[in-house]
Amino acid sequence: MTRVVSFSRRYRFSASHRLHVDHLTDEQNRECFGKCNNPHGHGHNYILEVRVKGPVSDETGMVVNLVDLDAVVKQRVIDRFDLQNLNHDPLFATEVSSTENLCKEVWQLLQENEAPQRLGSARLERVRLEETENNFFEFAGKEN
Ligand code: NI
Repeated sequence: MTRVVSFSRRYRFSASHRLHVDHLTDEQNRECFGKCNNPHGHGHNYILEVRVKGPVSDETGMVVNLVDLDAVVKQRVIDRFDLQNLNHDPLFATEVSSTENLCKEVWQLLQENEAPQRLGSARLERVRLEETENNFFEFAGKEN
């Protein structure tokens, strides 16, 4: 009998951003984003929770090899965003660097290239991004 189990692991990275929409006026941007539109930006210590789901291996008793998961998340996400200004990343050249959008982009980065194959038979189930103690966002790869 196949037993499917979810496994979640937390990661941390720090980055800065500024919420700003180019085609809005400075005043409209200030109205919309408040202090998050501060021209100098501001930083967050993000907590990223990656959840994968898959059959428990009869051989290893595990859903995913932790070393493989860590390597994929580090290479695809942490190394890209840690200690960076998100607004300078090409992903946010035309998209507001909100944590909602960052959450979607992290999901996408973990679904691209060789990333899914490196997780063995486990599949990405959900990405959760904590921006502050009180604000967190989740994306499970569906548009609605
Ligand atoms: Ni912010």
